[in-house]
Amino acid sequence: MKTSVACLAAAALLTACAQTSGGLGPVQGSRSPIADYPDDPHSFSTPNDVVVEHIDLDLSVNFPAKRLVGRASLVVNNRTGSDTLRLDTRDLTIHGVTLGSDAVPTRWSLGEPAGVQGRPLLITVAPDTRRVNIDYETSPEAAAVQWLDPAQTSGGKWPFLFTQSQAILARTWIPLQDTPAVRFTYSATIRVPKPLMAVMSAENPTEADPDGTYEFEMPQPIPSYLMALAVGDLEFRDLGGRAGVYAEPAVVEKSAWEFADTAKMIDAAEQIYGPYQWGRYDILVLPPSFPFGGMENPRLTFATPTILAGDRSLVSLVAHELAHSWSGNLVTNATWDDFWLNEGFTTYFENRIMERVYGEGFARMLADLGRQDLEAEVQDLGATSADTHLKLDLAGRDPDEGMTDVAYEKGAHFLRLVEQTMGRERFDSFVQKWFDDNAFKSATTEQFVGYLRANLSPEEEARIGIDQWVYGPGIPANIPTVQSDRIVNARAQAVRFLEGTAAGELTTEGWSTQEWLLFLRALPARLTSEQMVALDREFKLTSSGNSEILFAWLMKAVASDFETAYPALEEFLTSMGRRKFLEPLYKELVKTEEGKARAMRIYTVARPTYHPVSQGTIDTILGWK
Ligand code: BES
Ligand code: ZN
Repeated sequence: MKTSVACLAAAALLTACAQTSGGLGPVQGSRSPIADYPDDPHSFSTPNDVVVEHIDLDLSVNFPAKRLVGRASLVVNNRTGSDTLRLDTRDLTIHGVTLGSDAVPTRWSLGEPAGVQGRPLLITVAPDTRRVNIDYETSPEAAAVQWLDPAQTSGGKWPFLFTQSQAILARTWIPLQDTPAVRFTYSATIRVPKPLMAVMSAENPTEADPDGTYEFEMPQPIPSYLMALAVGDLEFRDLGGRAGVYAEPAVVEKSAWEFADTAKMIDAAEQIYGPYQWGRYDILVLPPSFPFGGMENPRLTFATPTILAGDRSLVSLVAHELAHSWSGNLVTNATWDDFWLNEGFTTYFENRIMERVYGEGFARMLADLGRQDLEAEVQDLGATSADTHLKLDLAGRDPDEGMTDVAYEKGAHFLRLVEQTMGRERFDSFVQKWFDDNAFKSATTEQFVGYLRANLSPEEEARIGIDQWVYGPGIPANIPTVQSDRIVNARAQAVRFLEGTAAGELTTEGWSTQEWLLFLRALPARLTSEQMVALDREFKLTSSGNSEILFAWLMKAVASDFETAYPALEEFLTSMGRRKFLEPLYKELVKTEEGKARAMRIYTVARPTYHPVSQGTIDTILGWK
């Protein structure tokens, strides 16, 4: 919620204004004459008045206190000569605010806290103010930051820290305009305890600094949700070309092996949609508590170690995060209601990269698994739910609630349909032009839809049914599907098994992870204990070292009350914090009284090891207080 013009007039009343206006909502009565930035219901900032163009960070990392302490110095453009700069903050302690390089004190105040939105920081500026310096520190509970004890790392000797800013958590570690509509460049000085290394979504060191002081530069403008920092005992391995990997010493070799195809993926991506614009592309393998599979921080993807399968079978995640270098990082969703512009495009592009590097058969299996995810998600949300629209309406809610497979898979399938309608060659030039025309800008769904319509004949438009896909619920009937021998075979084996063929007689030779997933998903959610025992004896699923296969198996184990797998379930839930695996397993557990008790027991031990993002989700499922 942005406070009204009347509130701006009296700095002393700012707190009261924020208090009375309450909740989220569009700007009321404060339209600026230069309205380049769309209203973002999840930000207090008013970039149409004053916009942040650059940030100089200087932060010290205090592990014992779990605090980042220092200064954010913002270079602003006061477009309307406004008297107030409005920033987003959440759980920050502000020590003081000054203006200019000579640091002249100015007035500032914090509005009332408004849930996940945090509180606005209102700073009095002059029409010619260029630099605003904010001295602050973060809270040990900052939702973007996870502070890991040495015991939570693979080395066990040094603490570790990482941030996760998407969607609106950057404000918990930096005071800024936390909206994807605003882009800025940044520099940073990060001071860490020796011998740890710091890395950011910027140009990175490849070796630890003897003094523990690191200087970063991000010369390309990025939105706030791509601000990222990690500190730990890290080593770097070159992967050839423009690619490399950072990880703890204990996993760095394994990581380098797993991601050996990264340079090939960059080349493939460039052949499809044009030059990679960010210089290097490195991957940081985080400790297992990282709440996501991957995060597309520019120049340095953050990744979960649960994709280190030992056979390179889960590297579509790298293709995905790399694809964001075009869709998301270069052309950015203007608000979180346009999230599908980031994730739908990226999921589509990910599949194209996988097709080029690993072949059409492999890509088809991935696409089919994605369509199944979409069906499950729509079933879950309800086929008429507004959250199944591509264009979302998240005002008044935590944007996290809209980050479902709809954006990813309905988005990707919509684009696949457009591709099939236009023909691949024409579609690819269309998408490349969209990226070129909007590079380093943010875009709304409406802008894309307009752009698309201008490139389609009326007949093509009618065949696609854009409005139904973008502004309508559920899965439209003209969703494209894929088929292949490998998909057919994997499903056929599930049918044979259900019809009584012994597990050992099934044709599973040479199966990849994806065939196993297709097979397991084609079986009913609940199996008999004889069936579970038979599958486990033959295929050793309970002891699978592949996180995706193990997860799919454990879902069945919980639904079928297959006790043999409970120790493995407990180990899985206490050894990693990836929300995509945690959430469905806990949800499945709470369906029975006994399962709920088990879930509570496990969570009591596991909760302190999870990132705040995962804690929040599981707290809700278990009613944890
Ligand atoms: N940008 C997302 C992660 C994200 C989304 C973080 C929304 C916070 C809010 C990232 O690109 C992503 O989609 N990661 C997926 C993996 C991917 C292969 C589908 C994940 O983490 O599961
Ligand atoms: Zn993504």
